[in-house]
Amino acid sequence: MKQQLAPERPDSERTSGQPRGTMVLKMNPTARILNGIEIAAQIKAEVAEEARTLTAGGITPGLAVVLVGHVAASEIYVRSKVKTCAELGLWSEMLTPPENVTTEELLELVAGLNARDEVDGILIQLPLPAHVDTRRLLEAVSPEKDVDGFHPINVGRLQSSASHGIQAGTVLAPCTPAGIMEIMKRSDLPVAGQHAVVLGRSEIVGKPVAMMLLNASATVTVCHSKTVEIERYTREADILVAAIGRPGFVTAEMVKPGATLIDVGINRVTDAAEVARFFPGDEARAAQFAQRGSTLVGDIHPAAFALAGAYTPVPGGVGALTIAMLMKNTVAAAKARRGATKYREVAAAKA
Ligand code: GUN
Repeated sequence: MKQQLAPERPDSERTSGQPRGTMVLKMNPTARILNGIEIAAQIKAEVAEEARTLTAGGITPGLAVVLVGHVAASEIYVRSKVKTCAELGLWSEMLTPPENVTTEELLELVAGLNARDEVDGILIQLPLPAHVDTRRLLEAVSPEKDVDGFHPINVGRLQSSASHGIQAGTVLAPCTPAGIMEIMKRSDLPVAGQHAVVLGRSEIVGKPVAMMLLNASATVTVCHSKTVEIERYTREADILVAAIGRPGFVTAEMVKPGATLIDVGINRVTDAAEVARFFPGDEARAAQFAQRGSTLVGDIHPAAFALAGAYTPVPGGVGALTIAMLMKNTVAAAKARRGATKYREVAAAKA
């Protein structure tokens, strides 16, 4: 990797003997790690407290998860969602139709969940089998129970009601992008006036996070597979969000020293040579790889993190927030739909 010019640091951070204004040819030793696990734990503690208050008022927030067929990764995610519900005092229900279920049968199942008052959140785990009409199904979920924030009504609300609604808990926003905004907020990182560059334009991450950053008054550029000379944009980014699913795509040469790097990628690497290329001299990583036969790499090359002002590690960064935000959305949906009055009464009595 080429050496980069580190950002000029204030006097307090200059190496002794280094004259003012000198450009330093070394990595940024002060790159701040944004610990997603800690932030997720804070959010989960807050959600558990809200769930206790609601439960004391006779309303236990509940999540229904629909898992079709047997996709290994989806089974792991769903198990984790159900387990977290139990930890935070939410109830949950898992529905597991077989791989050959039809769109019509799934529409019936969703209609049943929409009609049940005790179900506050409905999550249809993606991807669905190719023969299922995913769009039709996501649009069939009641917007008030759409804890994924995928329904067009919620996509529209996210665009039109800006951040006020999200803060007030009245907009159900997609979980991973909402988690990214929580990381920024709880780490006191500036967003307003910053140039945010988003890599990827998926419905689940790229597009909604671009909208949320815009709502928070960033200047936003969205890059994607057809963008010409992507590094022209990434080098200008004060905040760089990488969500393209390509291991180590963003190299050190592509980032602005001192930038905030948000890595959404979770890529499993199984090739030893590749692991050595990503983590040269990292004995802990090599040992982990030897034991498990794989390791996780984000969309940002680990060498680029060393130049950052702050960055989310992989694992332990953005990924940790997704389930926490799902729990937060489920409680918000319960409060908004059936608990607002009750919640205020109980909270006032507790105070
Ligand atoms: N599959 C991968 N990510 C997600 C997500 O955020 N929500 C759902 N429902 N499915 C997913």
